[in-house]
Amino acid sequence: MKKIEFDLNGPDAIKLSWLLSNGQVFMLTCSNAERSVNGIITACWVTPTSHNPLLLTASIGNGKEGTEAYRFCHSLINETKEFGLNIPTPELTEALFKIGTTHSNEVDKFAESGLTAIPGKKIGAQLIWECFMNIECRVFDQFVTGDHTVFVAKPIAAYMNSDVMTDGKFSDKYHDKKNQVQMCDLITMWDMW
Ligand SMILES: Cc1cc2nc3c(=O)[nH]c(=O)nc-3n(C[C@H](O)[C@H](O)[C@H](O)COP(=O)(O)O)c2cc1C
Repeated sequence: MKKIEFDLNGPDAIKLSWLLSNGQVFMLTCSNAERSVNGIITACWVTPTSHNPLLLTASIGNGKEGTEAYRFCHSLINETKEFGLNIPTPELTEALFKIGTTHSNEVDKFAESGLTAIPGKKIGAQLIWECFMNIECRVFDQFVTGDHTVFVAKPIAAYMNSDVMTDGKFSDKYHDKKNQVQMCDLITMWDMW
């Protein structure tokens, strides 16, 4: 066994960022203030960051249109200061790809991916029925880190499918990570390396 060194000044740098993500892949939903545009973005840079108050961060590209880090959802979250976090199962992998490679101002991602929109109780953005967890979040703070903006958000409502836990234990279906979508699976499945 030997150690392979990353060339952090070349194309390997982005590979390191994929490996540094905590693994779980999310579908983040958001809308404009009029609720006429419903955005969805595939996001893996989401992490809990505080117990009290309960806070999490989502890092979303803030590039201008036409650049690598352009995310239409950035403008939606920036406008409403809220978003939904939805945790998909592997059946939604194809949808994750479509959502992660198109822009919400050009495509109706709910229609395109055949996802069922359910209204948030406390936020204007829609949530995704097919995801086994849905968390409504309000942005608490935000700061720019290079070509991404870190949105610090407070979960204000959260729901989980009733088959995830049985008698306080994870059910067979959910007891390991196989029923979640992990970044390492996508790197292999999509030949990203
Ligand atoms: C597996 C995967 C993970 C991604 N994670 C993030 C992320 O954490 N933050 C981000 O800004 N973009 C991430 N992206 C890229 C966006 O999903 C992608 O640019 C998307 O097309 C933006 O959609 P929008 O223009 O509707 O916002 C990821 C894409 C994939 C495929």
